[in-house]
This record gives sequence, structure tokens and C-alpha cells, in this order.
Amino acid sequence: MTAFDSTIHVVYLAAAVCFVLGLHLMTSPATARRGNQISAIGMTAAVATTVVLLAQDHVITAAAIAVLTVGVAAGAIAGLATARKVRMTAMPQLVSLFNAVGGGAAALIAFGDAVRHTGSVDLSSAPVRTTLTTVLDVFIGAVTFSGSLVASGKLAGGIPGRPITFRSGRALNLLFAATGAAAGAAYLAGHGGIAILCLVAAGGLGVGVLMTLPIGGADMPVVISLLNAFTGTAVAMAGFVIDSSPLIIAGALVGAAGTILTKLMADAMNRSIGNIIAGGFGAGDEQAINPGIAVTGQVRDITVDDAAIQLAYASKVIIVPGYGLAAAQAQHEVVALAQALSDHGVEVSYGIHPVAGRMPGHMNVLLAEANAPYPQLKDIDEINPEFVRADVVLVVGANDVTNPAARRPGNAVSGMPILDVDHAKSVIVIKRSLGHGYAGIDNELYTNPKTAMLFADAKAGLTALLAGLKAYAT
Ligand code: TAP
Repeated sequence: MTAFDSTIHVVYLAAAVCFVLGLHLMTSPATARRGNQISAIGMTAAVATTVVLLAQDHVITAAAIAVLTVGVAAGAIAGLATARKVRMTAMPQLVSLFNAVGGGAAALIAFGDAVRHTGSVDLSSAPVRTTLTTVLDVFIGAVTFSGSLVASGKLAGGIPGRPITFRSGRALNLLFAATGAAAGAAYLAGHGGIAILCLVAAGGLGVGVLMTLPIGGADMPVVISLLNAFTGTAVAMAGFVIDSSPLIIAGALVGAAGTILTKLMADAMNRSIGNIIAGGFGAGDEQAINPGIAVTGQVRDITVDDAAIQLAYASKVIIVPGYGLAAAQAQHEVVALAQALSDHGVEVSYGIHPVAGRMPGHMNVLLAEANAPYPQLKDIDEINPEFVRADVVLVVGANDVTNPAARRPGNAVSGMPILDVDHAKSVIVIKRSLGHGYAGIDNELYTNPKTAMLFADAKAGLTALLAGLKAYAT
């Protein structure tokens, strides 16, 4: 092995270390930003090294390098501009769009390789290692491409968010899958080339669309995470096709991380991945906009002044944010209130449920944007034992993740781990009405004698509370 080859291998190894380290750092909000930067440095090094390698081997012409440079620059500018101006609530659809691009690019790598070898390679004698990974890459990449585009469209509102089903939908989906499988088998047997691969891709595209259409908009984050795992798998397959170890490693990491995240999200909702893919759960956000007010039992409401007095006299306050905080974009107001309470000598922490909001880490991202101190953010296992010591729990736009009905069987949230808000001495809930959350069921917390409802939009309610607190806490 020459010194040049050794250097290439060392850089690839360093890039792989950066990916793993970056992923590890992303496990905590305090280090996630650094993790992202380290992963990006690893990817930049891997891409640059690959271009140098291709130039050295004379596989690539000067014109091709120019095309690559323009492509990379255009992609980087478009990606950076979109990511900078996207609203936090629109993040899931952007991630889904990026997912589509990743899956599509992975499929195109296999196509490119097949085109390059057309005529020069006898497919019937090509190793299965290449043909099988080519077929899998094209199929999985195509599923991811079309599925992610539909998911993004549903979240952005271009496609209705409700489950879209039609007669023979499942049969048609099976037909697409069978077409992809049959064409894939023909390719493996050495029959045909690009035309057969096109059939594999067509099957995958059909499966992606028909798999995603019947799933409700609010389940999309889980589906996006699953499609993200598919993207990783397609990229790893592309790595096998063109014999690129960085692609194999990066793809395997994305595939594994996406699969684990999907499983964690499904567990946190106490649902199986199969149940989510089958679709039709909950009422989603359409219900939140038109709430079905059906809570029975005595509901006590509270004025802003009384809530502010209660907070001012508390020694320990736990804030529980939920989807309503994101919808109202009230992250800065909640952090300002928490800061005012801390300044007043109150011990403040945030109880973060893993599926509060509508995307993984939604509450962490929102609170980080408003510079909430990381040590105050506590996950469900850490915060649950603390509720009994809390004088006041302030629930801001959270609903399902606080519903004690989850402890009983026989309802839509049964078995879902919840934040034990009702164990605190008193609870104040800020939301606009008694409207349902995503699961579409009543919240028994609202009729608990310890609970007082502060009916308001999260942003307006928190602003009024802060003003009230300042009046009493000076
Ligand atoms: P939800 O149970 O969905 O409840 C959100 C509440 O926010 C609603 O009841 C609504 O009540 C209130 N709200 C909406 N806009 C508001 C505003 N401007 N100001 C104040 N309140 C507002 O939220 P959650 O407790 O965060 O639970 C999340 C749910 O989504 C869970 O069921 C979870 O399984 C599901 N889910 C989560 C994910 C991820 S990855 N996070 C993915 C898929 C599904 P009003 O209309 O009365 O104001």
C-alpha cells in the first residue's frame, strides 16, 4: 500500500470516528450542536478525500470536477438558506424533504454505476454482492424518495393530513411491491439492465406513495424517522455498490440510529411500529383546531393574578411544555417566566416527555432556541420522582403526555408513559380550551381537584403571568 493509499484510509477512518462521536454527542442537548459540527467535519473530509482519490486515479475529468463543484455549491447554498429560514414548527417537513433527497441520491448512485458498466460487464457473471445491493439500493431509495415527498406534503399541507385510503389501495401496493421484487429477481438472474432497474424503481416509488398516504399527519414524525432509517440503508447499499467504506459506515449509522429512534418513539406512545404504519390513529391536529369538548366532572379555572400569586409563593415549580407551546411559539415567554421565578428564589425545572410536541426532541429544540439552561431540562425518568416535591406544576400546551388515563387499560393512551403531573401539590394548566390533544380523548387531569385551568393562548397566558409575577414578586 502506498503512502497515498494509507492517507486515504486514515482520513476515512477519522471521518467514521467523527460520525460516531457526533452521534454520541447528540444524545444530550448540551452537546448536540457540537456533535452536529463534528459529524459535518467528518462528512466534508470524506467527500473531499473521495474527490481527490477519483482525480488521482484519473476516473474523473476536470469537467466532471467542475460540475461536482457547482452541484455541491448549489446544494449547500440551497440547504443552508432553507435551514436558516425554516420555522421550528415546519422542521419535520424539511427533514422529510432532505430525506427524500438522500434516498433519491442513493438510488441514483446505483443507476449511475449500472449505466457506467452497461455493455462492459456481463450481468449474469456479476457478483451477487454488486447486483443484490444495486437492486436493494434502487428499491429502498425509491421507496424513501416518494414516501418522504408524500410525508413532507402532508405536513406542509399540500396533501391533506388525514389518512387517505381508497378501495384496492392495499392490493395496488402489493402489486407495486411484487413488480419491484420480480424485476429485482430478473436483474439478479442477469436479464436486462437499465430497463429492468427502472421497473425496480417504479415498484419502489409506488410502494413509497401508497405506504405513506394512509398514515395520519400527526403520525408523520414516526414515519419520517422510519423513512430516515430506510435512507441510511439505501446509502449503505450504495456504498457496497461503488465500494465506498465511508458511505457504508455513514449509511449503517443513519439506518441504525433511525431504527432505534423509530422504536423509541413508538414505545413512548405505547404503540407498535406496525400499528403506526397501518394508520388511522387519533384525530391529529385537525381535532386540536376543532376540539370536541366533552370533559365531564368539575373543572376549576383560575385568574392570571391567582396563578401568579401561587407561583410567587412556591419553592419548587416544574414546567411541563407540550405541543401548544410550539404552536403558540411561546418558548421565549416560558423561559422568561422560568428565569423570573429563578431570580425570585424558586427552584425551577422543565419536565420533558419524549413525544411531547410533534417531532423527536421538539421541546428540547424549542427550549434550546430560547436559551433555557440545560441543567433545568429533565427527561421523564429524572423528573417523575420530583413531582411529589413540586408546589406547582405549570403545564403549558401539553395534554396527552399528562393524562392519568394512561395508567388504566382500554383507552387510546393506555400504557403510554406519562409525566406524573398529578402527584404534585397543585397544577396549573395553560391552554385555550378543554380541547383534546393528538390522541383525541379527554384528559382526566383537568377534573382533578388539584388542577386549575388558565384558559389562554400559551404566548398570551405566559406574558400575562410574567407581568403578574413581577407585580407580586417585587
Ligand atoms: P397534545 O396532547 O397533542 O395536546 C396539545 C394541546 O395543545 C391541545 O390539547 C391544545 O389544546 C393545546 N394548544 C394548541 N394550540 C395552543 C396554543 N396556541 N396555546 C395553548 N395551548 C394550545 O400535545 P402533547 O401533550 O405535547 O402530546 C403530544 C402528542 O402527539 C402525543 O399524543 C404523542 O403521542 C403525539 N405524537 C408525538 C410525536 C412526537 S415525535 N413528538 C409524533 C407523533 C405523535 P387547546 O386547543 O385547548 O388549546
